[in-house]
Amino acid sequence: MEQRKQIVPVALDDADSALVIVDQTLIPNETRYLRLKTQPEIWEAIHSLRVRGAPAIGIAAAYGAYLGVKASDAADFESFYAEFRRVKEYLASSRPTAVNLFWALDRMEACVLRNRERPIAAIKEALRAEADAIKEEDVRANRAIGEYALSLVQPGIGILTHCNAGALATAAYGTALAPIYLGQERGYNFKVFADETRPLLQGARLTAYELMQAGVDVTLICDNMASAVMKNGWVQAVFVGCDRVAANGDTANKIGTSGVAILAKNYGIPFYVCAPTSTIDMNCATGRDIQIEERKPEEVTEQWYAKRMAPEGVKVFNPAFDVTDAEFITAIITEYGIARPPYTESLKELFRRKETA
Ligand code: MRU
Repeated sequence: MEQRKQIVPVALDDADSALVIVDQTLIPNETRYLRLKTQPEIWEAIHSLRVRGAPAIGIAAAYGAYLGVKASDAADFESFYAEFRRVKEYLASSRPTAVNLFWALDRMEACVLRNRERPIAAIKEALRAEADAIKEEDVRANRAIGEYALSLVQPGIGILTHCNAGALATAAYGTALAPIYLGQERGYNFKVFADETRPLLQGARLTAYELMQAGVDVTLICDNMASAVMKNGWVQAVFVGCDRVAANGDTANKIGTSGVAILAKNYGIPFYVCAPTSTIDMNCATGRDIQIEERKPEEVTEQWYAKRMAPEGVKVFNPAFDVTDAEFITAIITEYGIARPPYTESLKELFRRKETA
């Protein structure tokens, strides 16, 4: 699969001094890159969804942790480690649901501890290399997910997706959009339906944008149109990404995903979750153990128009994610293969495969 050149969602700058992200809150109206140097800038960018999508959040946090201790003048390991822990905890408080954030920060901490006998300068170098590795592994994982996912579908079909699990949400290719890009290169002519994804419109602003850039046939629909589109027979598969998969297969993803899964089951359409193993949390037994982020009411009442979209003072419930119960998920597609129910067994098997790979 050819690496798409358009937009680089998250990277370290050449001078090794700033995290460079494209501000996703401005797409599709503007492509503005931000150079983030301080911890509050990086925290704010993750919290405000300037950089977003579980894998991209993990990569941003990994580079953020490196930048957070790069200038440290700690003289001994203990004080360096204490500084690292403060940076880690701060970045970890930026968003609660995507496990990639914690997974990446844990990996960075393990790197610090693994190198504890080395000089501080060498630990900093190792941290930089670890963040690079997290990013590079994400590219490879997404390519593999794309291949496995493509093996499940036929050319020419209609595919529905929710939110944005594309190149913008990852180091490259995306997860749920990886098979679509791969299919595009192989002449599969998929017809993609992108849910707009209220309230922050990741489907309308980001998925529609990046698929159009790639020349994919994409039709934007409002979230409440998915049933009609499925009933019309226009969708033969659903591909979505995820923020955290529990050990039993329950999956947290962008709010509205569980409704799409229930609809898909009703219409007999396979519902596939694309999940790099960095998004699978075997320490979470079920979806009930996943913390669901609640965001500010203004995203629902006044985000998109100059005028209010709802009366002043109205009560608002604004969860950013929901949990799709495992029973609605046809398969979970990872870089180590395809897991099918019962997920309690198949996910364990995938991790065994990962350990021996
Ligand atoms: O709130 P967001 O935009 O970060 O939510 C993103 C999603 O829900 C994606 O589907 C998920 O992170 C997977 S991205 C490969």
